[in-house]
Amino acid sequence: MKKLFSGVQPTGTITLGNYIGAFRQFISLQDDNECVFCIVDQHAITIAQDPQELRNHIRSLAALYIAVGIDPEKSTLFIQSEVPAHAQAGWIMQCISYIGELERMTQFKDKSDGKDAVSAALLTYPPLMAADILLYQSDIVPVGDDQKQHVELTRDLAERFNKRYGKVLTIPEIQLPKNGARIKSLQDPLKKMSKSDPNQKATIRILDTPKQIEKKIKSSVTDSEGIVAFDPENKPGVSNLLTIESALTNLSIDALVQKYQGAGYGDFKASVAQVIVDHFAPIQARYEELINSSELDEILDKGAEKANAMAITTLSKMEAAMGLGRRR
Ligand code: TYM
Repeated sequence: MKKLFSGVQPTGTITLGNYIGAFRQFISLQDDNECVFCIVDQHAITIAQDPQELRNHIRSLAALYIAVGIDPEKSTLFIQSEVPAHAQAGWIMQCISYIGELERMTQFKDKSDGKDAVSAALLTYPPLMAADILLYQSDIVPVGDDQKQHVELTRDLAERFNKRYGKVLTIPEIQLPKNGARIKSLQDPLKKMSKSDPNQKATIRILDTPKQIEKKIKSSVTDSEGIVAFDPENKPGVSNLLTIESALTNLSIDALVQKYQGAGYGDFKASVAQVIVDHFAPIQARYEELINSSELDEILDKGAEKANAMAITTLSKMEAAMGLGRRR
């Protein structure tokens, strides 16, 4: 069995992009791999968060992990700040990172662009992410396309650590979904769909009502051609909707283009919206059962205990290899 780690930030209700890019992969991978999934609340505070809102988002994200199909009997689910080894290993990873390589991260550039004051942690976010992955000796990291650069940096840092201090860390491989590695904004299909997009119409959230979903898809930006065809360069809006339907139904893009031959954009959009509504309905029902349940706390308590044991094992090896403390 291969080891697998991934994380999601509790910075807002997860989007259709998160679901297709990350969660769908998690579910399909959990049967054949030893999976660890994390609610990365320490990553969330690199940008100031309202404490009550953050607490709510953490719990909501935990319930959603289970509601989409993560099985706590098979996988470990935990909250990052409940496993102190992450911050400890994150510091070690900072010590072997160079400022230049962190400044080159596109996410840092995007998030700091035009801001007067940026937290130091926004720059040192990727070494903490590297620590998350490396603490579990992960072989595979399933993520969407926007995290590719961070996973590549993780590989570089692990190799650097092993070269300096001996072979302690596993070098992880990135795994992108075959279809839907970058779901686009509904309002600007050249940008990715993002949890933090201030334009509510740009993003479908997993807890949106059927009406909200229908409205957002209906007002999504397409083109004036009126032909349903897959051409990401010239028809990014229509292609994005086709990608969404294909990812949710496992039907090929070709089969969908065939299905919509002769259909106008109105019918096409109504049909895509219905696919999303039907797909989310059972997830939303399970979410409602879980959100205020003690079952959820039990899952998180057990997850933290398991994650702590695994993480401390690797942290101890890292510290001993570096000569920290009195460990040998
Ligand atoms: P986050 O919380 O922004 O996103 C969670 C996951 O969703 C994927 N994703 C998308 N996939 C397809 N289309 C989109 N529009 C889209 N938007 C987001 C992301 O690629 C991600 O897989 N840095 C990470 C969290 C993290 C992490 C980790 C991930 C912290 N430590 C260790 C993996 C391993 C992040 O901000 O993801």
